[in-house]
Amino acid sequence: MALPQSKYTNIESGNSRGFEQICHPILPKNVKPLRYDLTLEPNFETFKFEGEVKIDLEVKEDSNQITVNSLEIDIHSVEAAGQRANTIEFDEDKQTALFTFENKFAKGTEIALDIKFTGTLNDNMAGFYRSSYEHEGQTKYLATTQMEPTDCRRAFPSFDEPALKAIFDVTLISDKGLTALSNMDVKEVRELGTDKKATVFNSTPLMSTYLIAFIVGDLRYVENNDFRIPIRTYATPGLEKDGQYAADLTAKTLSFLEEKFDIQYPLPKLDNVAIADFSAGAMENWGLVTYRIVDLLFDEKNSNLNTKQRVTEVVQHELSHQWFGNLVTMDWWEGLWLNEGFATWTSWYACNAFYPDWKVWEQYVTDSLQHALALDALRASHPIEVPVKRADEINQIFDAISYSKGSSLLKMISRWLGEEIFVKGVSNYLKKHQFGNTKTSDLWESLSEASGKNVVEVMDVWTKKIGFPVIKVTEDASTNTISVKQNRYLTTGDVRPEEDETIYPVFLGLKTQTGTDESVVLNAREATLQLEDLKFFKLNADQSGIYRTSYSPDRWVKLGHAGVDGLLSVEDRAGLVADAGALAVSGYQSTLSLLNLVHGWKTESNFVVWDEILTRVSTIKAAWIFEDQNILDSLNAFTRALVSEKTHSLGWEFKESDSFLEQRLKSVLYGSALNAKDEVVIKSALESFDNYIKGDKESVNPNLRASIFGAVARRGNQSDYEEILKIYKNPLSNDEKITALRTLGRFENAQLIERTLGYLFDGTIRAQDIYIPLQGLRTHKAGIEATWGWVQKNWDEITRRLPPGLSMLGSVVTISTSGFTSESKAKEIEQFFASKSTKGFDQGLAQSLDTVRSKASWVVRDHKNIYSWLKEHDF
Ligand code: BES
Ligand code: ZN
Repeated sequence: MALPQSKYTNIESGNSRGFEQICHPILPKNVKPLRYDLTLEPNFETFKFEGEVKIDLEVKEDSNQITVNSLEIDIHSVEAAGQRANTIEFDEDKQTALFTFENKFAKGTEIALDIKFTGTLNDNMAGFYRSSYEHEGQTKYLATTQMEPTDCRRAFPSFDEPALKAIFDVTLISDKGLTALSNMDVKEVRELGTDKKATVFNSTPLMSTYLIAFIVGDLRYVENNDFRIPIRTYATPGLEKDGQYAADLTAKTLSFLEEKFDIQYPLPKLDNVAIADFSAGAMENWGLVTYRIVDLLFDEKNSNLNTKQRVTEVVQHELSHQWFGNLVTMDWWEGLWLNEGFATWTSWYACNAFYPDWKVWEQYVTDSLQHALALDALRASHPIEVPVKRADEINQIFDAISYSKGSSLLKMISRWLGEEIFVKGVSNYLKKHQFGNTKTSDLWESLSEASGKNVVEVMDVWTKKIGFPVIKVTEDASTNTISVKQNRYLTTGDVRPEEDETIYPVFLGLKTQTGTDESVVLNAREATLQLEDLKFFKLNADQSGIYRTSYSPDRWVKLGHAGVDGLLSVEDRAGLVADAGALAVSGYQSTLSLLNLVHGWKTESNFVVWDEILTRVSTIKAAWIFEDQNILDSLNAFTRALVSEKTHSLGWEFKESDSFLEQRLKSVLYGSALNAKDEVVIKSALESFDNYIKGDKESVNPNLRASIFGAVARRGNQSDYEEILKIYKNPLSNDEKITALRTLGRFENAQLIERTLGYLFDGTIRAQDIYIPLQGLRTHKAGIEATWGWVQKNWDEITRRLPPGLSMLGSVVTISTSGFTSESKAKEIEQFFASKSTKGFDQGLAQSLDTVRSKASWVVRDHKNIYSWLKEHDF
């Protein structure tokens, strides 16, 4: 999912069969596209492109009309079977063009539709668009595409729906010196006069329009030839040297995926391309995968481990799509999770196989699983399978539900069926439907066949219903029994009976001293389980189920001890912290259970568990950010008591011999100590920075960079700001550039905040990066207030520059509103948007308001508790 956005409505989808008839209503079914012959010529002076597309159609019904998708394209002529269209009618809302002809086309015949047109190489990162970069002191352009989900219609008139697969023959006309790329390899290059050429590509297999891609520009590449077909990483001149890691990883990953799913990658080449202006993180175009620079290029020396893991994840995610999405495609966007959930699951699966020492499945619990639970705990969440029709609705479901709840569901099923049977079933599913389209039920069918289990019955609820449950556990020591009861979980803690009707099939995963019982599924509201004794037990073994568990205060204390005694896995420990944290926010439990738990786990040595502990403590700080400074100081003292000693003893040198996880642990502890105002660490951080700007480039380790820059922003001198800005403009690496940009937002001085906000639209910051300084501003009070003020004051300009089709608008709204913590601010935000169109971000806004309100009631509810606990413990 591209950016921190998230959406759609909370209408439950109900019976998806009923919905199928109404879900692709946009294009009529009277003709079916078979083959496109497309020629395009971008012009870098006028920022226009000339195009012609000939589409072979099968006529399904007698009719004299043809409707195609077309958006912001100037159509010059339309001909079909020798007739010129009499009229062309555009429907802007439906994004279609209707061509009417004199005579009817006869059912059963094949006709050719020929359209000549001019389009715009726009700067909105959608359709066929332009991206700029600097080379030898000059601004240069390249032309590239981003079609998913519904922008192929901006590049050429097309039947732009995922089920309308066809064969594509692409020809690109360009200057001789430029590189032209598309999904397929080059068939021939024809000279056109003295300076132009036509690059003709081989025919694609049957594929969907949203996966078409073409690029024209001055591109360089590095290559890997270890795999059956050539693998390249392309970038603009000078950047290609950082592409080797991705090229090598691509070769290994394709071979891994071929073997696991027992299906060959069907294309003759695979290119990865870094693009300077890119709306998402990356895009899986078949054979021509495009990326944001930071998500593809990797400079081992000057980048940190987060970046390495992120690049690995993104590359493996997009390569997984070559099977999940490209070879087998959802039949409509309602099935988006089949693409994104699978690509997410498979990227973790592949990463785990390649880097077992990273232990990524442990990290999954604090990463994807928490993202899924966080979003799905909002009233304004949506079911995994949700009816969507319009472009602005489709755009909003590229969120943590499709990606993270989707992948968590797959993880849950894989644990239930066993990984080998799961992978086998998935392989059968891919083979059965290759080059075709599927619904979720097709997946369940293949998994049922492979496992002999009734997968549909269990899984339907999870994809068709919104939300997930909290399991409340009560104990009866006299009988050694526990009772479990499920209810819908909401962060706001105010679930209404009509929102709590779903019974989720819950895999209880009961861990006791004698082992784990994976067989118990709670298929009812309540159940009672007989245990041998109540000394030790925990539900949701290894946190593989999608739910939260609420225990009695006593049990939390016992689980705290069990963690220290080694009875719990890393996933269990991280999951308990996450559950305690979430249940505190929503009021299902007091925040004291969380504080006691983490207070007892000071001796913890695992990175993932620490990461979750520190995240949850930060969540408290963020909710109390507008409260009395005393309590924030006490929370800092509490944090120092957790981390200072440990970070002082581990130190902040990074040795070759440190494992990946030791290095990550060092950096997360260091960052927390800095944030919590540990004087020793602050002094060292500021010294490192001062040496760094004097020219000692080794003095800021890339793994500590974000924390050190943050400390500098808190020091907050004008000269510090200038230095960070200089780094942004002239960085050592791409990840340093992004860190510097985020840091600009962390300066708290009012004038510096104004300067940062001023850079958003004056050309200093690319549109793709606008959310990054806003993330920095969101970390402090003055920044939260100022950003919201800026949004209100500049709303018209913001909507002009960030059209609602672009997910960036949603991100700006979410980031600029979700930092608040009071009911009065929630009202103010509501009032501001009451008179505005919220098209394209209505869900993000609703989710943000939910978040603000949950913090507001948390603060009211637990303020006294936390205050006395901190006092009692001398913080
Ligand atoms: N298919 C998406 C790209 C996309 C996102 C297209 C939103 C249209 C709208 C791609 O596979 C993707 O999911 N990219 C992620 C990276 C991934 C590692 C989660 C992204 O863009 O962040
Ligand atoms: Zn994806």
